[in-house]
Amino acid sequence: MGLKNRLTKMIVDPAFRNPGLMKMIFAIDDVTGFDLVKTLAPFKLMPASAELFQRCFAHFVSGEEISLACATQLSAMAPDRASSQYLLVQAAEEQTHLEHFNKKLAQFGLAGNKLSGYVTPSFKRFGDAIQGRLDAGDYVGALVGNNVVVEGLAILLLEMGCRDMRANSDELTKFLDFVLEDERHHCRFGERRLKIWNERGLVREADVKDFYGEMWGLVENVIGEIPDVLDSMGLEPKTLLVASKAFFEERLAAAGLAITA
Ligand SMILES: [Fe+2]
Ligand SMILES: [Fe+2]
Repeated sequence: MGLKNRLTKMIVDPAFRNPGLMKMIFAIDDVTGFDLVKTLAPFKLMPASAELFQRCFAHFVSGEEISLACATQLSAMAPDRASSQYLLVQAAEEQTHLEHFNKKLAQFGLAGNKLSGYVTPSFKRFGDAIQGRLDAGDYVGALVGNNVVVEGLAILLLEMGCRDMRANSDELTKFLDFVLEDERHHCRFGERRLKIWNERGLVREADVKDFYGEMWGLVENVIGEIPDVLDSMGLEPKTLLVASKAFFEERLAAAGLAITA
C-alpha cells in the first residue's frame, strides 16, 4: 500500500470506528465548507463530503427499505413453502441492514428526515414499480424487480464502487462485506427460484421481459441522475451501465430466460 493510502487510512479507519471523530469531520465540513478528508488525499474516498456521504447512504437505505417491503410481502405470496420461509429470513436480514445503515448515519450526526430527499426520483420508482407487481399478485415480477435488479445493483455498487473506501478503512470494509454477503445470497435465491418456477410453468417470459424492461429503464435513469454520487464511489456511469445489464441478464439466462433489455 502506498504512503498516501496509508496516511489516509490513518484518518478514515479510526473515524469510521469512532463515530465521534467522523461526526467532527462532517461538522468541520459543514461549517467551513472545507473538504477535510478529501483534501488529505488526491483520490476518491469516503467521505468526500457530508452531503455526498448522505446522498450515497440514502440510496443504500432506500434500497434496503424496498427489499424489506418486498421480501415481507412476497413471503406471503410465494407459491411454495421453501420460498416463503427463505423470504422471511431475507426480510429479517434487510431489517438488520436497514438498522445498520441508519445507526451509522445517526452516530455521524447525519440521520433525519432529510435523507429520503436525497434519493433520486427514478430510484424511488423502483419501489413503486415493485409494489405495483406485488399489488397485482405478480410474485414473479416482484422477485425479478427486487432480487435480480435492485439487489443486483446493490451488489455491483458494493463490489465495484467501493474500492477506495475499502482501501481506506478495514472497519468500513467489514461493514460493506457484511451487507454484500447477504445481498449475494438474496440475488442467488432470486435466480434459483426463478429457474424452479420457470421449470414448473409458473413464469410467463413475455411478462418478465416487459417488467425487466421497465426496471432497466429506471436503472438507466438512476445512473444518469447521480453521476456525482457514483463518482464519489469511484464509479464511471458507463462502466456501471454495461456491468449491470450483463449482471441482470446473466441471472435471467441462468433461470432459463433469454431476455435482454
Ligand atoms: Fe439488504
Ligand atoms: Fe437483500
